[in-house]
Amino acid sequence: MKRILVTGAAGFIGCNFVRHLLQKEPPVTVVSFDALTYAGSEQNLTSLNNTSRHEFIRGDICDGALVQRVLQEYQIETLIHFAAESHVDRSILGPGQFVQTNIVGTFNLLEACRAVGRQQPAVRFHHISTDEVFGSLQAQDPAFTENTPYAPSSPYSASKAASDHLVRAYAHTYGLPATLTNCSNNYGPYQFPEKLIPLIILNAMAGKPLPVYGDGLQVRDWLYVEDHCEAIWQVLQNGKLGETYNVGGENQPTNLEIVKSICTLLDELHPQSPITPHEKLITYVTDRPGHDRRYAMDITKIRRELGWRPQYTLATGLRKTVQWYLAHRDWVAAISSQGNYQQWVAQNYAQRSAPTEEKL
Ligand code: NAD
Ligand code: TYD
Repeated sequence: MKRILVTGAAGFIGCNFVRHLLQKEPPVTVVSFDALTYAGSEQNLTSLNNTSRHEFIRGDICDGALVQRVLQEYQIETLIHFAAESHVDRSILGPGQFVQTNIVGTFNLLEACRAVGRQQPAVRFHHISTDEVFGSLQAQDPAFTENTPYAPSSPYSASKAASDHLVRAYAHTYGLPATLTNCSNNYGPYQFPEKLIPLIILNAMAGKPLPVYGDGLQVRDWLYVEDHCEAIWQVLQNGKLGETYNVGGENQPTNLEIVKSICTLLDELHPQSPITPHEKLITYVTDRPGHDRRYAMDITKIRRELGWRPQYTLATGLRKTVQWYLAHRDWVAAISSQGNYQQWVAQNYAQRSAPTEEKL
């Protein structure tokens, strides 16, 4: 476990995970590998520049030859695969890139590991996946377990499901030493502002509308990103090869509750916003097509077998997150100006500008 390759390391969870890894004992060496798409930024890793145990390589996981070279040159022992297209709304407007990165990209990584495994010890492969592969729950349904059948419903979740199947097939057929984690919605520092929680924080601070899709009663199982990082670490240390572990926050508020909690926090922490109380900005907009209603994770297995459980409640995690965004305006300004983000905002929200019947 001493030499670790992290794909997608310049993205939200990846950069938090690299920081988490570099604090562990005994010390590990980390190679961060990332294509720097609109969602990734090298500045997410700049605070690690003076660590000799960390190196950044800009590269595409679809470039199998490059991945193979990196695995060999750095004698990588463990590969942790975060790189992906990760935003459901973008997958609805442009599914092709999701098939390319999430399916073909994962296939390329697996092939590179298989090729390298013929000459050096097999690379341990840990695949990062999502609860969205299980589809949508009705209000009374039990939470997803590791045995819940896959039923993905967006191009994003379908592409992640396909990548999960490929990883399991390589473990089964070629003996690839692999583990998987399927995790619920993450939030915390460095999350790209297109996702619900940072979007609401930043819009609220700027006095802009807070777009709530449909009736806002959809449910997600929110997990603070540091808790996710520690869950992955536990699986790397003590997880059984070939196994999958569900990871979740045991926090299942509606989207509307999340938005209102952020408004209340900002009323306290940022009273100088142009419009307060911040709740006045809540605006119902046209729903996401095929919007999954509810996700919930049963985390009995990881809790029982590895002793992991979330350390943050929604209240403690959201407060830390809001404080982080308030303290990192430069980061927000830089990341929001890259990769045509403003164009994306215009495109995504223009088509749902018509409010629905519901009003606060
Ligand atoms: P993100 O969009 O913030 O980051 C993705 C990173 O992958 C970016 O740095 C991007 O540049 C990089 N990337 C994209 N295509 C690449 C390619 N072809 N080659 C190399 N790098 C590439 O995503 P995130 O939220 O950090 O999610 C990371 C992983 O965790 C994804 O696999 C996602 O499916 C999974 N996941 C995310 C959540 C969540 O709530 N964010 C929950 C469960 C699982
Ligand atoms: P998101 O952060 O995109 O994650 P995911 O779709 O992977 O769960 O969205 C979280 C929830 O918030 C989801 O139900 C969609 C909803 N949402 C809004 O209501 N408004 C928004 O502007 C966004 C981006 C999301």
